[in-house]
Order: sequence, then C-alpha cells, then structure tokens
Amino acid sequence: MTILVTGGAGFIGANFVLDWVAQADELVINLDKLTYAGNVQSLASIDGNPKHLFVHGDIADSALVEKLLAEHQPRAVINFAAESHVDRSIHGPEDFIQTNIVGTFRLLEAVRAYWKALPGDAQQAFRFLHVSTDEVYGSLAPDAPAFTETHQYEPNSPYSASKAASDHLVRSYHHTYGLPVLTTNCSNNYGPYHFPEKLIPLMIVNALGGKGLPVYGDGQQIRDWLYVKDHCSAIRRVLEAGTVGEVYNVGGWNEKPNLEIVNRICALLDELRPRADGKSYSEQITFVTDRPGHDRRYAIDARKLERELGWKPAETFETGIRKTVEWYLSNWQWVENVQSGSYREWVEKNYGERSE
Ligand code: NAD
Ligand code: DAU
Repeated sequence: MTILVTGGAGFIGANFVLDWVAQADELVINLDKLTYAGNVQSLASIDGNPKHLFVHGDIADSALVEKLLAEHQPRAVINFAAESHVDRSIHGPEDFIQTNIVGTFRLLEAVRAYWKALPGDAQQAFRFLHVSTDEVYGSLAPDAPAFTETHQYEPNSPYSASKAASDHLVRSYHHTYGLPVLTTNCSNNYGPYHFPEKLIPLMIVNALGGKGLPVYGDGQQIRDWLYVKDHCSAIRRVLEAGTVGEVYNVGGWNEKPNLEIVNRICALLDELRPRADGKSYSEQITFVTDRPGHDRRYAIDARKLERELGWKPAETFETGIRKTVEWYLSNWQWVENVQSGSYREWVEKNYGERSE
C-alpha cells in the first residue's frame, strides 16, 4: 500500500511524513516543489529509508502527477502543498493563486482521472484529503463562538481567499464527480521544523540572535494554537475513519493573544538559555506596524472530530511550547541552514516596512 503526500518538505508535511514513516508500514511518495519553505533537511532522519520516496516537482505539473499516480497506485492523496504565509500573500499574491488554486485544481483533475479508472474495491477505498485552515472562516468578534464546520466562509487575505477557493474546488469534485474527498480546517500549528518567518519560530530565533521581537499592532490578536504532531494525528484519524465529503475542524482549544505567546517564549528562554547580561528576552519586544487587514481572532470548535472520530490533542500549550523551544535550542544547525539569501531578503523587505 502507498500514499501520496504533497508539500511533505514543508513544516506540517515533513512532521506528517516523519510520523508516518515511524508508525505505518506503507510507502509514502512525497511530492514537493521545494519553494523557499520546503526543506529536505527536515527529512534527513529518513534519508535512504525505503518507506519514503521524495519527488521534486509541482502539484500543477499534470504530466508528473499523472505519472506518479499511474506508477505508484496510491490508496490516498494528502494535499499539504501550498503557499502558506499571510504576510507574503500581502506582498505578492500571485504565487498563492498559482499553487493554492491552479495547483489544487490540476491535482484534483489528475486524481479524478486516476480514481475513475481504479477497479471497484480500490475506487471505493480511495481518499483525497485536503489540508486547509481556519483562516477561511474570517475573523471572530471577542465573544463570538468558535468556528464550527458550518461557519460561513469570509476569507480576508489573499492567502485565505486562495485556500477558500481550493476548499470549494475540493468540495465541488465530491458533489459533481463523486470523488471521495475529506477536508480538514486547522488552527495555527507550532512545533519542530517551523520556518522562522511565522510568529513562534521567528520569536525564538530572533530572541537567541539578539534581535528585536516584532509584535504587530497591539499584540492582542488571538490565535488558537495546536502542536503540529496533534494536527498530524488528526489527519491520520480523518484519513482512517472520516466520512467521505465531510469537513473536520482541528484545533487545540488554546486561544491566546500574540503578546502572551511572545512573553511565554521569552520566559522559557530566560529559563533554558539565559541572556549573558542577566536581563529577560522580553526586553527585545518591539511593537511594529500592524499587518494590513489583520484578522483579530480565530478559534476552532473541534467537537465534531472528537465526537465522531474520538480525536483529542495529546499536548497542552504548556507542554507543546516547551518541547518546541527545546527543539530549536537543540537544532540550531537546521535554523542556520534555512536562513538562506532569499530568507534574509524577505526579512529586510517585510520588517523594513514595519519599523515602529
Ligand atoms: P509550509 O509553507 O511550511 O510548506 C508548504 C510546502 O509546500 C513546502 O514544502 C513547499 O515547498 C511546498 N509547495 C509549495 N508549492 C508547491 C507546489 N506548487 N507543488 C508542490 N509543493 C509545493 O506550509 P505548512 O505550514 O506546512 O502548511 C501545510 C498546509 O497546511 C498548507 O496547505 C496550509 O494552508 C495548511 N495549514 C497550515 C497551518 C499552519 O499553522 N502552518 C494551519 C492550518 C492549515
Ligand atoms: O490559522 C492557521 C494559519 O496560521 C495557517 O493557515 C497559516 O498558513 C499560518 O501561517 C498561520 O497564519 P497566521 O497569520 O496566524 O500566522 P503567523 O505566524 O504569520 O502570525 C501569527 C500571529 O502573529 C498573527 O496575528 C500575526 C502575528 N505576528 C506575526 C509575525 C510573523 C506578529 O505579531 N509578528 C510577526 O513578526
């Protein structure tokens, strides 16, 4: 048996592939374009493992995807591949339209043709699992209930609009063609191999590098944090037992304002790697210009996944954030390797425009 994962050299995809190889006795084909966010070093621990086959390529390359499907006959496709950073989508939305919308469409087309030609039992068992985000639901008022699966779509950034479009395409391929799809909409992830352009890894890396910790606006925007390994276990569970055509929200019931997150990271670093001058890393916090169109609050109601499929996160925010900070402290070489020239250009461009 084989599964095909797309975007498996990115943050969540790599964690998923590593866990899959460790737990399942099944080949995983990993198709990744290796954009700035893709990193084969995240997969170094499974280098040469016969259960993993890395393929460098684009989900929008129909001929390549068709060839991979025909050759390997996967029983499932799990689509992680995406442009994923909101700030980058504000500076340059086109890549987001290309990968998240056109890429997902081409992938769906290739998968539809492959699935249609499968023999009866294999066709019945096949699944296409699309990994999506809570950002498609828009921003919540402070006292509004958390997003359920039936919350209306109200995407506010080019990133979330492109993910919303991909979710709609996936839904339509089920409704129109009967393709056996599953969609997961997850809240903010954190953990190992997280690229240091996103809040949590950026704060850890900047703190240790003696740099400013740029908090957007008043820092009171709320995100709902889930340890990445819990997201991976939710995806495995939905793949295994989810009802075809259904959507499952994934979240950790961990709503926190950004400033609290940054202060918690500083406190952990004060404990685990104190500054040479004895001062707290929190002294490095700087308030910078807010993100345009910044969503104020996300919160996921994950009760459907718990009720129907018995999934619950294993980590609390406290255990997960400690593991994360410890991982970065012990994997500094990985951080140095991902801070390429293009990463440094991005930091200059984004934070150059955000000076206090
Ligand atoms: P990431 O940016 O870290 O990784 C994306 C990966 O996709 C990279 O390895 C990149 O090289 C690859 N990729 C990009 N374009 C591609 C293409 N055209 N063809 C093949 N590969 C391509 O993203 P992530 O944080 O790991 O997110 C993975 C998925 O989960 C995305 O679909 C994202 O929308 C979704 N998601 C992320 C979060 C989060 O907090 N990070 C939360 C919910 C959902
Ligand atoms: O909610 C799920 C989404 O979470 C995923 O779909 C996205 O792929 C993922 O990138 C993430 O989006 P966010 O925009 O919430 O994540 P980010 O880490 O960029 O920002 C988290 C919060 O921190 C957000 O309110 C903006 C703020 N922020 C971010 C950065 C990078 C800062 O205050 N300073 C920063 O330097």
